[in-house]
Amino acid sequence: MEKDPLKIGIIGLGTVGLGVIDLLTRNIETITLRAGREIKISGICAKRKNKKRQIDLSKFQWISDPLALSNDDEIDVIVELIGGEDGVARSITEKALLNNKHVVTANKALIAHHGHYLALIAEEQEVALNFEAAVAGGIPIIKILRESLSGNEVSRVYGVINGTCNYILTQMENDQQDYSRIFKQAQDLGFVEKDPSLDVGGIDSAHKIAILASLAFGSRINFDNVLVKGIESISLVDIKNANAMGYRIKLLGLASKSKAGINQEVEPCLVPRESLFGKLDGGTNMVMVEGNFVGQTHYIGPGAGAGPTASSIVSDLIDIAKGNISTTFGQKASQLKISSHVTEDLVSSFYMRFLLTDKPGTLAQLAGILGKYAISINRMRQLHHKDENAPVLIVTHPTQKTSLKSAIEEISTLEICKSEPVYIRIEDL
Ligand SMILES: NC(=O)c1ccc[n+]([C@@H]2O[C@H](COP(=O)([O-])OP(=O)(O)OC[C@H]3O[C@@H](n4cnc5c(N)ncnc54)[C@H](OP(=O)(O)O)[C@@H]3O)[C@@H](O)[C@H]2O)c1
Repeated sequence: MEKDPLKIGIIGLGTVGLGVIDLLTRNIETITLRAGREIKISGICAKRKNKKRQIDLSKFQWISDPLALSNDDEIDVIVELIGGEDGVARSITEKALLNNKHVVTANKALIAHHGHYLALIAEEQEVALNFEAAVAGGIPIIKILRESLSGNEVSRVYGVINGTCNYILTQMENDQQDYSRIFKQAQDLGFVEKDPSLDVGGIDSAHKIAILASLAFGSRINFDNVLVKGIESISLVDIKNANAMGYRIKLLGLASKSKAGINQEVEPCLVPRESLFGKLDGGTNMVMVEGNFVGQTHYIGPGAGAGPTASSIVSDLIDIAKGNISTTFGQKASQLKISSHVTEDLVSSFYMRFLLTDKPGTLAQLAGILGKYAISINRMRQLHHKDENAPVLIVTHPTQKTSLKSAIEEISTLEICKSEPVYIRIEDL
């Protein structure tokens, strides 16, 4: 006997919402065969009914109140594509779950801030809360962590998970232009969020790494403990220096688990130019997962855009249509552990750049302070200069970040130090 269609309500008809309608319409035969039944759009909703959109929506039923869709007994799944951690996105999601409806969302902010609370409701109501599209767009990284690698103890998840930042860093290097010029170019092209701190300030990557950490380590999501540093202070000179030493600068989301606890950070890092991360250009995303049996695995693909994001949303819908209802974070939400979060003390190599007075004794003073904090120098270079101040580059052997920061603080107070020192972590991936 033919199964009933899966009836969905789509709330939010912007880039992603229209992408989902386009995919469900164009690939209808394949999707119906794979889902085992029709996935039927039973209601659509956005803020402005009269807005001109690229797709003809006249055959779909328009519902002006988003909460009415979440309360509609005829709807099986709410697809939340509004965005934002609170407000309407949160209330329709919560209401839908409480009304025994499955929810599919692309909203990383919502999951990063309220994922645990919402997962508890989903578990109680025995419905799905799926969010494949929330991290790395078209890369199926949620499923990989939730299902494919679920037998492993995962020790690290690293990723370039914000396409806008990777685009800006790539363009700075390609065009040899400074940050402000390329940032403006990215804004003009519509690549930057309305609130730029979400992209270039690292918050978007922080939402995503908090989600990945929870799935990877079986821990309760903890966005507040992600240490975040964006790309605003990355200068062209550091990109050039990194290049000369065989590195490129990438904004990495970094989550690792040790006996001490879980460390979550978003930070611009130097990565070897010939590594997989080093070869990543433009808006492409990449995630590395390290498991104790599988070793290191890498996943690469488009991190945003209508098509890739819709691909992930529709895969979540097909799962629900087939009756594959996974736990939200790969295990019972009520059993997710609250792990201790390690905010310090990372051991890594660092790149440092100083502008120092070029006179006898300067390097001895610098070396003296580095020695005092047990920071050992791997490579050191004084760059060509015309005036009395010399740019000095140092690459350290692995050292504790807290020691490095203390040494830099002390060096910056010296008479010989002529501008704010710069330091960037090196990840030899
Ligand atoms: N764009 C991407 O490539 C991408 C990738 C991954 C994840 N995501 C996530 O996907 C979600 C949607 O992103 P998007 O790029 O599609 O956003 P968008 O283009 O700005 O679209 C947002 C949609 O939400 C609707 N909306 C806003 N307030 C509403 C309200 N109160 N009631 C009903 N509808 C409302 C808007 O209506 P109007 O059209 O009438 O204004 C619009 O259709 C976000 O969570 C985002 O983080 C996006």
